[in-house]
Amino acid sequence: MAIIELKDVVKAFPLPHGGSKIAVDGISLAVEQGECLGIIGESGSGKSTLGRLILRLYEADSGTVLLDGRDIGALSPRELRRSRHRWQIVFQEPFASLNPRLTIGQIVEEPLIVAGSVRSRVARRERVARTLEEVGLSGDFLDRRPANLSGGQQQRVGIARALVTDPSIVVLDEPTASLDLTIRASILRMLNRLRESRDLTYVFISHDIETVRHFCSRVMVMHHGRFVESGPALQVLDNPQEEYTRGLMSAAMPPIPYRGRAHASEIQAGAS
Ligand SMILES: Nc1ncnc2c1ncn2[C@@H]1O[C@H](COP(=O)(O)OP(=O)(O)OP(=O)(O)O)[C@@H](O)[C@H]1O
Ligand SMILES: [Mg+2]
Repeated sequence: MAIIELKDVVKAFPLPHGGSKIAVDGISLAVEQGECLGIIGESGSGKSTLGRLILRLYEADSGTVLLDGRDIGALSPRELRRSRHRWQIVFQEPFASLNPRLTIGQIVEEPLIVAGSVRSRVARRERVARTLEEVGLSGDFLDRRPANLSGGQQQRVGIARALVTDPSIVVLDEPTASLDLTIRASILRMLNRLRESRDLTYVFISHDIETVRHFCSRVMVMHHGRFVESGPALQVLDNPQEEYTRGLMSAAMPPIPYRGRAHASEIQAGAS
């Protein structure tokens, strides 16, 4: 059974001078448990909006979102609060998403307190320490503050905060975009390990096509709030059927010929 299912989801934002911008324009998708679905597309194509709609961080204008078989648009605010810990998000900018006044221990404990699932303080502290260890941060990080951590360590805290409530679904919105290449690789390896050990389902939003190729089993390509192409990641990225996808790829890669299919120079870069 699909753990995430979207049917015809639409979201528009009002424009400052009247009218509206349709950010997500009738998207349907299904993600199986344990799968990693990559979402790629140029800036402004609606990837982050889609990620937030999946978790009902934005209300859809129309359409339905089912998580774990439940229509989350139909949940009351109370039910939604109770269920939130099962569905988490990791953002691109770890520092901006961490409260600078709190210690790492407090930051990671916070979602557990909100979820109310672990009532004993001692048990919560244990869970926090264990989760930090899982993301490669040992106990002495507990009392430090975000400003005293490297970017990679900050993102590990962001991941620990998402995982501490034992979610089933995690939306990763460009989680490694602000990190340098070697740190990026080690965080991606860790995310992969965690997905396997915790049987997590990921929606992985990224600009970085190479990352998606290695990290995701399936990919969907977004353009102007719609999917233009989807399928197994290797198939879509090695043999894109749509000109838009080829353009995205040629914009991301050095201008070398496309293994005899077409030359990068013939492909419209970053079509909009
Ligand atoms: N909160 C908002 N209010 C108004 N407009 C928004 C809001 N969020 C997104 N938009 C608009 O919706 C469209 C899609 O934005 P979105 O952030 O989903 O794109 P994206 O694919 O994530 O881009 P990027 O790769 O730059 O992160 C854009 O035109 C954007 O300006
Ligand atoms: Mg975005």
